Amino acid sequence: MQATPPSVFVTGATGFIGQRLVSALVEQGYRVRAMVRPDAKIDTRLPPHVEQIPVDITDVDKLAGIVPESSAVIYCAGSVRGRSAADFSIANVEGVGAMLAALGRVAEAPPMLLLSSLAASQPGLSDYARSKYQGEQLLLGKNSLPWTIIRPPAVYGPGDKEMLPLLKMIRRGLLAHAGPRDQRLSLLHVDDLAAAVTAWLSAPQPCYQKTFAIDDGTAGGYDWAAIGEAVKDGNFRMIKLPRALLNIAARSNMLVSTLLGYAPMLTPGKVRELTHPEWLCDNSDFSAISGWEPKLDLKTGARQLFATEP
Ligand SMILES: NC(=O)c1ccc[n+]([C@@H]2O[C@H](COP(=O)([O-])OP(=O)(O)OC[C@H]3O[C@@H](n4cnc5c(N)ncnc54)[C@H](OP(=O)(O)O)[C@@H]3O)[C@@H](O)[C@H]2O)c1
Repeated sequence: MQATPPSVFVTGATGFIGQRLVSALVEQGYRVRAMVRPDAKIDTRLPPHVEQIPVDITDVDKLAGIVPESSAVIYCAGSVRGRSAADFSIANVEGVGAMLAALGRVAEAPPMLLLSSLAASQPGLSDYARSKYQGEQLLLGKNSLPWTIIRPPAVYGPGDKEMLPLLKMIRRGLLAHAGPRDQRLSLLHVDDLAAAVTAWLSAPQPCYQKTFAIDDGTAGGYDWAAIGEAVKDGNFRMIKLPRALLNIAARSNMLVSTLLGYAPMLTPGKVRELTHPEWLCDNSDFSAISGWEPKLDLKTGARQLFATEP
């Protein structure tokens, strides 16, 4: 008789990271149950054989009915753009609380992986960073539950919309950066992040009640010259965007987004994140526990990306 494959409940499965993660899970033989919005029709961003479960991310009662049938929960939902703290709160804080409450009702709760962000290490910088920090804090108090937090740095790869414009511009020979020239940045390819999650699922020893900030294995991260070298083989021009100009653009964006009703990415908080001198990770603890090693540094990741992207 064939064993039933382990079933993983994934929130945020329809997003940039979630979609690559779902593909990786399916490839590894997991049965994926993906949370979709309660009013969603069949979501075509997900593969046809993935079970779609319409549920509100804050509905503790419904979640409590779903999680016992899962061998693990991966909380990948998140708000990455918004005007105010309230815009980030539902997916980054309230949904995390609801999932924990649901898990708390289960006799033997399945392990939960929270995809947080390196931004959570600097909660004072922006509403986004604070919301990711607050989401993490909800887990830290739950010693009876088997949770793990992964804090990725900036993630790029197929399907990404945030870093792609910057990488495309470098590809065309212009590297316009907001942070200081010697800023140190860790990066991570989305497929290495997905592989880290599958490594967590099958880790030989449990790694619960722990937080890991993981990157592509480039020790000390990249400065802007190294980013240019990796993406454009040295043949590029660098300009530093004046912070005052970025702040004006961010404030105008806040105003226009209020008038037009969209969630802005460039905000004064995002400018503070972009200009923060150091966003660095260290894989050693997570690799030692899970056996995971990243495969794609920026040079390889960018080459792959631009083999398909125009
Ligand atoms: N991208 C990065 O560079 C990066 C770096 C570090 C950490 N992260 C974290 O990784 C996670 C995923 O990021 P991403 O880049 O994949 O973002 P994304 O493309 O914007 O996807 C966000 C996902 O969360 C879901 N979601 C958002 N608000 C929701 C709500 N109120 N109820 C239910 N679902 C909701 C979205 O569902 P819909 O499709 O239905 O809107 C989507 O599936 C986030 O937690 C983010 O903080 C991302």
